[in-house]
Amino acid sequence: MWSLMFVTILALSRAMSETINLPNNEWQYSFHVDYENNQFLLDGKSFQYISGSFHYFRTPRQYWRDRLRKIRAAGLNAISTYVEWSLHEPEPGQFNWTGDADLVNFLNIAQEEDLLVLLRPGPYICAERDMGGLPYWLLREVPNINLRTKDADFVRYATLYLNEVLNKIRPLLRGNGGPIIMVQIENEYGSYYACDTEYMDMLKEIFIKKVGNKALLYTTDGAFASLLRCGFISGAYATVDFGTANNVTNSFLSMRLYQPRGPLVNSEFYPGWLTHWGEPFQRIKTEAVVKSLEEMLALGASVNFYMFYGGTNFGFTSGANGGTGVYSPQLTSYDYDAPLTEAGDPTPKYFAIRDVIGRYLPLPNMSLPTASPKGNYGPVLLEPVLKLLDNRSPFVVIRATGDQPKTFEALSVNQGFVLYETNLPPSISDPAILHATTKDRALIYIDNQLRGILSRIDKIFTIPLESPYGHRLSLLVENQGRLNFGNEINDSKGISDVNISGIPLTNWNMTGYTFSDVSSLRDITTIRIDSGTLNKGPAFLRGKFTIVGQPLDTYLDTTGWGKGVAFVNGHNLGRYWPLVGPQITLYVPAPYLREGENELIILELEYVSQTRKMKFQSVPNLGTL
Ligand SMILES: *[C@@H]1O[C@H](CO)[C@@H](O)[C@H](O)[C@H]1NC(C)=O
Ligand SMILES: *[C@@H]1O[C@H](CO)[C@@H](O)[C@H](O)[C@H]1NC(C)=O
Ligand SMILES: *[C@@H]1O[C@H](CO)[C@@H](O)[C@H](O)[C@H]1NC(C)=O
Ligand SMILES: *[C@@H]1O[C@H](CO)[C@@H](O)[C@H](O)[C@H]1NC(C)=O
Ligand SMILES: *[C@@H]1O[C@H](CO)[C@@H](O)[C@H](O)[C@H]1NC(C)=O
Ligand SMILES: *[C@@H]1O[C@H](CO)[C@@H](O)[C@H](O)[C@H]1NC(C)=O
Repeated sequence: MWSLMFVTILALSRAMSETINLPNNEWQYSFHVDYENNQFLLDGKSFQYISGSFHYFRTPRQYWRDRLRKIRAAGLNAISTYVEWSLHEPEPGQFNWTGDADLVNFLNIAQEEDLLVLLRPGPYICAERDMGGLPYWLLREVPNINLRTKDADFVRYATLYLNEVLNKIRPLLRGNGGPIIMVQIENEYGSYYACDTEYMDMLKEIFIKKVGNKALLYTTDGAFASLLRCGFISGAYATVDFGTANNVTNSFLSMRLYQPRGPLVNSEFYPGWLTHWGEPFQRIKTEAVVKSLEEMLALGASVNFYMFYGGTNFGFTSGANGGTGVYSPQLTSYDYDAPLTEAGDPTPKYFAIRDVIGRYLPLPNMSLPTASPKGNYGPVLLEPVLKLLDNRSPFVVIRATGDQPKTFEALSVNQGFVLYETNLPPSISDPAILHATTKDRALIYIDNQLRGILSRIDKIFTIPLESPYGHRLSLLVENQGRLNFGNEINDSKGISDVNISGIPLTNWNMTGYTFSDVSSLRDITTIRIDSGTLNKGPAFLRGKFTIVGQPLDTYLDTTGWGKGVAFVNGHNLGRYWPLVGPQITLYVPAPYLREGENELIILELEYVSQTRKMKFQSVPNLGTL
């Protein structure tokens, strides 16, 4: 009879063990740790997983099955996905589990495609997503909230969310016949300053109640004792994450400090890497990936690639790294230099990994994927139709006044822009120096004329202004993505400490803009603007293009433009910023297109190309090394 310990109930670190004899039918669907033999047991049999991260929230649902099938075809037997709280609860108590947020459908498709699932519901997920997946409204409801701690408000909201998601997925746990073999508690908690073990214990209670022994509870931390120390919790299986630059042996030795027995696990093995605006596109060499993979599999380790397929940060969903004065927002693309590209096409890395896997697991008898055909729809002429700050703008979601500027969150503006306006005092000393602590980027206008830019990325919070006395100051502030990692994820947006030559500025008018529906622009007629720098504020431009036959995936080339946001048939493709790069094209999935007439709308913030054209092409340009 098997002798093992249920890690969901007992922790090895507690010097305590128990032999459990299960009736035979209880083995049929189960996932456990066999501590004696340092292995997992799937349905009672020895099991090693090779998994790939794929976040459903970065891909239109029409493509979920295609990507999952390609992951299986590479020989992987599992996938891992985060669950994004902010997607599923965009406002408190308003849950959304439909359309591209239909997690259960995604998990069902995974099972149909013969893949097991490692589920990571957070509440915090990092994932290079806005605020690490936490909903912005936490900062509105409780301005001084202590995120990811036992703060009663945070725990109350997190509990409501976790109960909701864990109830949803319960039938899909392995013990109930579903694909979910492991469920992660929190995420790299040992990297967070708080080290709040009471908080982790509170979360653990929720997970134990909802998951029990129907799947294995686990934690993931960087492969260093210092990180595992606050991330490990007794009663959950402790795993580590590390990439090709780390020594495999030493990394697993770190895991062994906190998980002395049981199978070795790398929960995030990085075959690629994330990229921030303004840096070269990050790549990891295939040779290095294959070498580390081989080493781990030879040790019998279970491995999850982060990411096997990255996808796209559509809309305003990308986050930022930084803290203590540093701010580095991530690209719209989450291609990640992963084995499958942003468009789901296999790369040489994909096939090299498959070759290695084939030496350890039986490869499925499936046809190998090839790159999907891409559309080359050519240039689209864009005509200006509206200035963002025009009184007719249909995108105003809130107008407010205040002695001091309010944050985006206080104004309930999750994503987008807030215009802060005040009248400058009639006479102040010369020269005038404007100071505003800015999150994240502010276009400065005096009487509607552009005078400069404040930038959190470049740490520019001060600017001289020539003779602004008695005039109207307008600061159009852009949220470029909340921090997703580190100790400052309570990254509320807006401006503060605004003064001109030391005189504090008060009496603010605030106007919030978001773009959930750009179709209202259809009724608006053409306006005139000059090409080049947009001295009088951002503008919407619109163009039409025709697709003959079945639409194909394509890439929108933003070369020659400044900085902005692009929409195709109402779908927000995300931010573009070719002036800074490295990303030049935006991925356009075919499900966003239609046969016949299509519409491209852009909101350009800073610079209108002389050609006034953007082009749909068949190849991506994410910048070269
Ligand atoms: C649910 O979320 C999806 C994905 O973001 C979105 O497309 C859909 O409109 C949302 N549904 C509702 C009812 O808000
Ligand atoms: C963010 O949270 C930390 C920890 O609670 C706190 O020290 C800091 O003041 C907060 N920052 C803001 C901007 O609220
Ligand atoms: C990893 O570290 C171990 C122990 O320090 C060492 O023996 C081994 O050579 C290292 N492996 C690599 C690939 O550097
Ligand atoms: C693999 O699949 C093909 C097509 O379905 C089938 O003809 C072939 O017999 C299969 N091979 C094996 C070894 O199962
Ligand atoms: C603020 O709004 C009020 C009311 O609409 C308006 O009278 C005033 O001119 C505005 N102030 C600025 C600086 O735009
Ligand atoms: C104005 O801003 C500057 C720059 O941060 C700061 O040093 C100064 O103390 C501020 N002055 C006042 C009166 O708030």
